[in-house]
Amino acid sequence: MNQTLIRGRILTFLRWPDSRADRDAYRYEEDGGLLIADGKIVAAGPYAAIAAKAGEGVETIDHRPNLVLPGFVDCHVHMPQMQVIASYGTELLDWLNTYTFPEESKFRNAQHGRRIARLFLDEMLRQGTTTVVAYCSVHKESAEAFFAESHDRDMLNIAGKVMMDRNAPEAVLDTPQSGYDDSKALIAEWHGRGRQHYAITPRFAITSTPEQMEMAGALMREHPDLHMQTHLSENHAEIAFTQELYPWSRDYTEIYEHYGLLGRKSLFGHCIHLSEREVDTLSDSGSVAVFCPTSNLFLGSGLFDYQRYRRREKPLRIAVATDVGGGTNYSMLRTMDEGYKVIALNGEKLNPLAAFWQITRGNAEALSLADRIGTLEPGTDADIAVLDSRATPVMRLRMETVESLAEELFLLQTLGDDRAIREVYVAGKPAKSVISSADV
Ligand code: GUN
Ligand code: ZN
Repeated sequence: MNQTLIRGRILTFLRWPDSRADRDAYRYEEDGGLLIADGKIVAAGPYAAIAAKAGEGVETIDHRPNLVLPGFVDCHVHMPQMQVIASYGTELLDWLNTYTFPEESKFRNAQHGRRIARLFLDEMLRQGTTTVVAYCSVHKESAEAFFAESHDRDMLNIAGKVMMDRNAPEAVLDTPQSGYDDSKALIAEWHGRGRQHYAITPRFAITSTPEQMEMAGALMREHPDLHMQTHLSENHAEIAFTQELYPWSRDYTEIYEHYGLLGRKSLFGHCIHLSEREVDTLSDSGSVAVFCPTSNLFLGSGLFDYQRYRRREKPLRIAVATDVGGGTNYSMLRTMDEGYKVIALNGEKLNPLAAFWQITRGNAEALSLADRIGTLEPGTDADIAVLDSRATPVMRLRMETVESLAEELFLLQTLGDDRAIREVYVAGKPAKSVISSADV
């Protein structure tokens, strides 16, 4: 058996941390060891005890004094928008029409899709993100490219081709039947192959006809174990247009409800302007609201009320995500920095332990995948991020006055980015240090 022993300051979460002092919410070993074999974590604990369990001649990698955490999880991101990020001056619907749909039309070319899929997953790993839930373009080839690249790297990723059959240029439209057939073919080819998961992906109610929404519901019934991802209640003009297109519905959420798209594996991007009825319906069904702070700020969409959703009597399940290219950064550290500010504007705070829980175990729980990713528990997959809290001069200086783990995490979140990611392991293998930055 091929074993690796990682040494470092090991941190993994057990549950939601109520405060910065909530010591029972996590496990932390100042001199910790992680024993890895065949892509899985075999044992975790004090270094001396774990080293004693390791076989003769085990390869040991010493990451001290850096932190060793589970790899980050990004629950909503658009692979074909790498050349949309940083597009000036519009709100959602104009942004889609002006920049996004024309860009996504390029993915009809399979070669373009393969190049961007490679650069996309390179970038995610550079940022410490080991699992993404990704939208591909409408073209089957873009999802093929994504999954081929993801499978080659042995990453656990979730993705789907978007289904969209109206209110967009012809070059990015499918039909109810072709959307269904292409999704079926991709599910047959990729779902469950290695670590790949397929997500049924109707883009949003505006770009699908009722007929296509029916087809998406049929796919859900035929594949109840699959994830579903879409957008919900992001922007006022979007909500008004949606209401015009589905005049019978009481609200936006009822449309997805009507077509059978709610459930524990359903991920709804944005969820900013929901009524209490909508939040109740989403939480009753176990659906997940995905908070995309940098995107919500960049497109001027609004302030996601994280603490209101979490604290209500029937809490809403929440995930966090970059939403690149509406989002402005690939880093989950930068994302939580902006998330903290959005929550502050709602008059609340998010403690740094909770922020790191969210981008690891919290997001894994939102995907119903915490038995595989998001922690460093023995038996789970060895997807790991190594963080350097002294990665820049400014961080090094500020670290001189840091006195607790919570303070250090807050510094990482507030000042950190890809430079703070020293190494990443995917299924136990180094994955950041092997990327060539010249390879664009
Ligand atoms: N709503 C429908 N499509 C999109 C998209 O690509 N990005 C964002 N932010 N919202 C959307
Ligand atoms: Zn999105």
